[in-house]
Amino acid sequence: TLPDIEPSLLEITRTQDPKTPPPPSSLVFGHTFTDHMLAVPWHILEGWGAPKIQPYGPLSLPPSATVFHYAHCLFEGLKAYRDTSGKVTLFRPDMNMKRMNTTAERIAMPTFNGEAMVELLKQLVRLDKHWIPDQPGYSLYIRPTMIGTQSALGVAPPKEALLFVICSPVGPYYPQGFKPIALYGTTEYTRASPGGIGAYKLGANYAAGIAAQRAAAAKGYVQNLWLHGPEHYITEVGTMNAFVVFKHSDGTTELVTPPLDGIILPGVTRDSVLALARAHAAGTAPVPGLTDRLVVSERPVTMGEVKEAARTGTLVEFFGAGTAAVISPVDRIGYLGEDLRIPTGPDGMGPVSRPLWKYLTGIQTGSIAHPWSVVV
Ligand code: COI
Repeated sequence: TLPDIEPSLLEITRTQDPKTPPPPSSLVFGHTFTDHMLAVPWHILEGWGAPKIQPYGPLSLPPSATVFHYAHCLFEGLKAYRDTSGKVTLFRPDMNMKRMNTTAERIAMPTFNGEAMVELLKQLVRLDKHWIPDQPGYSLYIRPTMIGTQSALGVAPPKEALLFVICSPVGPYYPQGFKPIALYGTTEYTRASPGGIGAYKLGANYAAGIAAQRAAAAKGYVQNLWLHGPEHYITEVGTMNAFVVFKHSDGTTELVTPPLDGIILPGVTRDSVLALARAHAAGTAPVPGLTDRLVVSERPVTMGEVKEAARTGTLVEFFGAGTAAVISPVDRIGYLGEDLRIPTGPDGMGPVSRPLWKYLTGIQTGSIAHPWSVVV
């Protein structure tokens, strides 16, 4: 067997030109990058090469590299947090490395030892930890990426690849507090289809959604509500997983998200919201402030059901969940020519998302002790 990624072979070249991190309040999501990056080359005959931490800077690739032609590009997104005592943590990095391997397999790219990569992520974050703002809501967005680098125009698995990691200090997605967004229930475009690539974090998925997002924006909506099939099953919200909350006549409150049936991206925030809500519902780990009559469902949910609930007043909430924004409340859905109104509280959130958001961000930032938070 060929060599896997090996942290003990790491070579570190520090930058000769360290930059000064900008004031946190000036940060725009994904526009500022830290001093260093991690790069690990792969060759089909040699396996994974020695990992290198080097100054952040341009890559040099032949224009014939497969990434430029057939979209051999996949990525991950996770965050590191720094508390006021200087402690730095990663949130569930194992989940991201697992998903990165699942994605790589889907497009016949090389897989790797996820634990070894987590070790390397820690080394990178340690070197650039002064870039992580320590104010609440701020973090370091870590972007592991894998591209096909072989010079070849034949449509085939690339024989060479590069795994690299860059880091970007980011602020709260909504600096002025939660601002609920309006969604366009999209029937002209689809995000994913059965047997396709929607369940994988491939660059191509995101490129394909941008024209649709622009069309929604032109109609006065912020993001697409991606629907599936003639039933208009709810699938995702822009680049986030979708959650709906219903009030039922038996007094229960149901938190619903579509099942991982092949067209849904298996989000780490999605999984975390479900796990916390289920532990609360089971009584094993109550989430402060959350109703004790909660039912948690991974099940198909249609626009018809949401529309009917909006009409009868049993629609409690609608929100997106993802790493970048964590929770993104929705207050309006444009659907087949009409606008459905969704209730939001004075802070923009609702009775289920608010306590879950508080609890989840408490774990992420380290103020609530939890095994998901991994010390760097
Ligand atoms: C998310 O974190 O919700 C994302 O999908 C990240 C986005 C910048 C691609």
